This record gives sequence, C-alpha cells and structure tokens, in this order.
Amino acid sequence: MQQPSTSNDDLVSRSLSAVWHPCSQMKQYETFPLVPIARGRGAWLYDFDNKRYLDTVSSWWVNLFGHCNPRINAAIRAQLETLEHVMLAGFTHEPVVQLSERLRALAPLGLGHCFYGSDGASATEIALKMSAHYWRNTGKPDKTQFISLQNSYHGETLGALSVTDVALFRDAYGALIRQQATVVSPDWRNAETGETDEAFALRCAETLEIHLQQHHAQLAAFIIEPLVQGAAGMAMYHPVYLRRARELCDQYGVHLIADEIAVGMGRTGTMFACEQGGISPDFLLISKGITGGYLPLSIVTTTDDIYQAFYADPTARGFLHSHSYTGNPLACRAALATLDIFEEDDVLNANRAKADYFNRIAQPLREHPSVKNWRNTGMIWAFEVESMHADFAQRCFALGLQHELLLRPMGKTVYFMPPYIISEEEMQLLVTRTLIVIEALR
Ligand SMILES: Cc1ncc(COP(=O)(O)O)c(C=O)c1O
Repeated sequence: MQQPSTSNDDLVSRSLSAVWHPCSQMKQYETFPLVPIARGRGAWLYDFDNKRYLDTVSSWWVNLFGHCNPRINAAIRAQLETLEHVMLAGFTHEPVVQLSERLRALAPLGLGHCFYGSDGASATEIALKMSAHYWRNTGKPDKTQFISLQNSYHGETLGALSVTDVALFRDAYGALIRQQATVVSPDWRNAETGETDEAFALRCAETLEIHLQQHHAQLAAFIIEPLVQGAAGMAMYHPVYLRRARELCDQYGVHLIADEIAVGMGRTGTMFACEQGGISPDFLLISKGITGGYLPLSIVTTTDDIYQAFYADPTARGFLHSHSYTGNPLACRAALATLDIFEEDDVLNANRAKADYFNRIAQPLREHPSVKNWRNTGMIWAFEVESMHADFAQRCFALGLQHELLLRPMGKTVYFMPPYIISEEEMQLLVTRTLIVIEALR
C-alpha cells in the first residue's frame, strides 16, 4: 500500500497521475501547479512546509466556522458512535428529524417538508422535477418549462445546466440539454448612469412580467439566486426584485424557486436572502454552508400546498426521486452543530459588526484606481479590477498564494467570501495583501 505523502511535491505528482480535478483543464496545471493542502485550522489552510493560505473563498463558499472546527468535529464524532448511515426511504433517524424541524422554524413562513439531496445540483434537480410534477398532479401537464436570470448558475448536472446561463459550462453539452429561457438580470452593474439599483431592478421586473404574460401556460417555475448571483461574478441586486418576482409568479401561477445554495445560511446578512425581499418562495434550496462546509448535504423545503399535491393513494403521484446518501446522519449532525453555533454565538449580529469593520478598513482597496464597482452584501464583497493582463484570474490566484491568500477571481472580478470566524487581524491582512496583488497586476 502507498504510504501517505509527507511532502508537497509527492502529493502533487500522485494527484496529477490519479485524480481528475473538477472545473479544470488538467493541462493548465503544468503552468499553474496544484496547491497541496496537508491540514486546515480556522480560516487557514497549510501545506506540508507549513506555508499557509487564508481561505478567503470559504473553500468554494461552503465553510462558515473555520476548518477543523472543534464543535462540529465533536458532533460528527459523537454521531459516528451511534449511526453512520441508514437509507431514508422507509426509515428515519433522529438527526434528520431534528434538522427538518429546525429548518422549518428558520425558513421563511410557510416552508417545511424537507426533501433531502446531496450536493447543490441535486437540490436544483429535485426542485425542477417537483415543480413540473406538481403541475402534472394538479391537471396542468403542459407546465414543464422554466426560466432563470441571465448569467444564472444552478449547478452542472444536465437538468441544472438547462437553467444555468454560463456558456463555458454549458456549450459542450448543448445537444444533451433542453435549454430554458432567461430573463434580464437585475445586476446593478448594468443600470443606466444615474439610475438607482432599485429603479433598475423594477425595470428588469417589467421584462419578467412580459415573459410571464406570454409563456405562463407552459411555465412551471422561475428559479433565482436571491440578491447575489455568485458565479455571474457576485452580481448583486436590489431586494425589490424579489418582491416583484413573488407578486408576478403569484399573478401568473408560476412557482418561485429560491436557490439559496450559495447565499443562504447567513451569507447575505440574514439567515436566508429571501427575508430581505420580505417573501417566501415555493421552494427553498439549501446546501453548501448548511454543514459548515464539512459534508455534502442539500435540502429542498417547500409549501404544504405542494406537499399535499403528491399525497395520495397511487404510488406514481408521489415524488419518487432518491439518492443513496439522502439525509445522511453524519451530514445532518454537522448541520445541527452548525445551527447550534448560529444560535450560541449570535452569528448574524456578530457578522454585521464584522462586515462594518471590514468596510471601514477596506477603504484603501475600495478607493484604489484599478478597483471598480466595489460592492458588498452581508459577508460577500466583490469588485472588478482594471488590469492589462488577459489572464488576470490565473495571475491573481498565483500571486495571491505567494502572499498567503487563497483568491479565486472570476475573470477580472475579485471577491471575498470568508469564513465567518475571520478575525480583525486576518481581515487587515486580507486588505493589505490584496492591495499588493492588485498593484502588481495593473
Ligand atoms: C447558486 C448555486 N446553485 C447551485 C450550485 C451547485 O452546487 P454544487 O456545486 O454543490 O452542485 C452552486 C454552486 O456553486 C451555486 O452557487
């Protein structure tokens, strides 16, 4: 048996020969090498030489309370001694029941009946299927189409890709996908000069209305990333759009699916982003941060009306979707420990103070001549960088690593989505080092 690696070079070369890495052109690792990680602690990741990187992107937006968090570790260890897994069809267990009860209490009004998946994309698949199946069960079988916002991202399985508007991820699979329509995004970067983000959002809602008027008879649902479109480059928009989207979906009999996979769990300043628009969606998708970034788990919560449309004698009227690890007890226990931390540490209020602090100390970055469109929602910050380098993203990533930062720009958009436990000292370091990186890449 192969001995575990104890050096950076050894781990990287074994990985390149055995692992096909996600979201990667593998050949590019010849120029921009893989980063070996030996361990993590708090907001930091370490290699075998103890070189450290500040995880400013929360390891793909999942980590909330730091790597190797003692409270989440302890909860998983305790669960491990009781029950590691049991199938959820025909069986149940304490962690999944507790988690469903707690999410029902936390989610916007009217949502409950938690249906479990694994990754975010499986939650998208579940919601799309459940929505279309609802209409079939209620005598409207023609309602099988969906709409999403321009530049939306809802995952990369085939159903999720059909409502994902990112050409790079989608084009190669065009023949396999039933592509769905998009409507203009309220991303305020596209507002006219002098137009407020609110006025722009309302103007975008008018085009949504026109689309709904024309197509509602075929439309099952409108799927949306509330307040922040992550993969679009942290595109942010005014909450009034959510309110109008809810009104219009009600008016035209179309479901509203809130994909809070990235923006839920306190990321935008409230537990769920929908709260800021004062709305309840028909489906709420939760994943990523729900386990504190420990284990794959996703949840689709929905309304009693939708649940009741499946509750009947014929088996085929039921929602027969499943995944082997649905509602895994270890993942649910990690989620319960995560929710405990939210309560015990009054995390939402603590984050507000943290975000205020960061906005104050980030002033030099915000005012840097290369920085454009500075924006912030809750614990997400983003800006575009004016740089002469076409390969800015790769250079920024590589230079960031040299300065102890894990930055992962999207094109020329740099963003910070740090774990909530980031300290003031770490925030200072983030600002100072990012300034150095940006200055070097003008
Ligand atoms: C808004 C949104 N939806 C869905 C997904 C897909 O989640 P996963 O990568 O866990 O499949 C993501 C992932 O980044 C996301 O940001």
